[in-house]
Amino acid sequence: MDDTGIGVVLLGYGAIGQAVHRMLAPVADSVRVLGALDRAALEGTAGQVRMAGPAGQEVPVLELGAAIELADVILECASPAAVRAYGPGIIGAGTDLLVASLGALVDGRLRETLLERGPGRCHLSTGAIGGLDLIRASAGTIESIELSTRKPPAALLHPGLPTALRASIARAETTGSSRHVFGGSVADAVRLFPSNINVAAALGLAAGDMDLVRVDIVADPSATLTGHAIEVHGSGGHYRFGIENFPDPDNPATSALTARSTVSGLLRLAGHGPHFI
Ligand SMILES: NC(=O)c1ccc[n+]([C@@H]2O[C@H](COP(=O)([O-])OP(=O)(O)OC[C@H]3O[C@@H](n4cnc5c(N)ncnc54)[C@H](O)[C@@H]3O)[C@@H](O)[C@H]2O)c1
Repeated sequence: MDDTGIGVVLLGYGAIGQAVHRMLAPVADSVRVLGALDRAALEGTAGQVRMAGPAGQEVPVLELGAAIELADVILECASPAAVRAYGPGIIGAGTDLLVASLGALVDGRLRETLLERGPGRCHLSTGAIGGLDLIRASAGTIESIELSTRKPPAALLHPGLPTALRASIARAETTGSSRHVFGGSVADAVRLFPSNINVAAALGLAAGDMDLVRVDIVADPSATLTGHAIEVHGSGGHYRFGIENFPDPDNPATSALTARSTVSGLLRLAGHGPHFI
């Protein structure tokens, strides 16, 4: 990559990866997409090296070694499993990583490997919410954080759900009424909804303690937006954030803001301000 920008490899080329590719096209002199590392693409193309990108662009499909070799930064927008599988190798090889699937970091050992060992640097995307700067600044003074997330049932359903929970979410759909389907810790929320509740892990990471965060999830068949109501209480003050996100058109489980947040993060890594710190 030349001096005027950074090169990024997209780890995950689904709704977020493709939206990021589209959004970066006009600023390619600052952040250039060098390729994508995607399980489905690697399996599906059987040796072919390209897949269709936005507006007719193509992007090389890369294996991990080539991705590490080429990239200034790898943007993970795949799954918590991908963070576990690839994160330590990327950081250990000295390449920087920007993580969207923050739920993976409920695992303390992985968190330490990614955030503290280096030599690559691990950056955390703000993803689908805001206010993390304030929570980070208040770490040590926070007594509790309550997160109540409201999504349409279809955005919560996934093949790995336990039968009873699946039935509870499906009942919201069939009765047409909203239903509280989960209450508990970040670790349990992430275990049951690995790709749906990264915001809970983001709050715990910002606060410096996952155990401060209580998570409630409501399946709401009338919801057209994804809602996150966040209440933070502590000796430094009380804060409330209400976030209502439009879903990504390609994946109802993902808020469209998430791709924009990762683009904003990449531009910041490329030196673009303004920098709020
Ligand atoms: N931080 C946040 O607020 C936030 C919000 C939404 C989504 N996310 C995370 O972003 C992830 C991607 O979201 P999306 O809407 O683009 O999902 P998506 O299902 O549309 O796309 C995911 C892509 O990643 C690929 N992939 C998945 N696991 C992989 C692995 N182990 N190795 C290689 N490729 C793999 C899949 O083949 C797919 O193409 C979600 O799983 C979620 O964890 C974070």
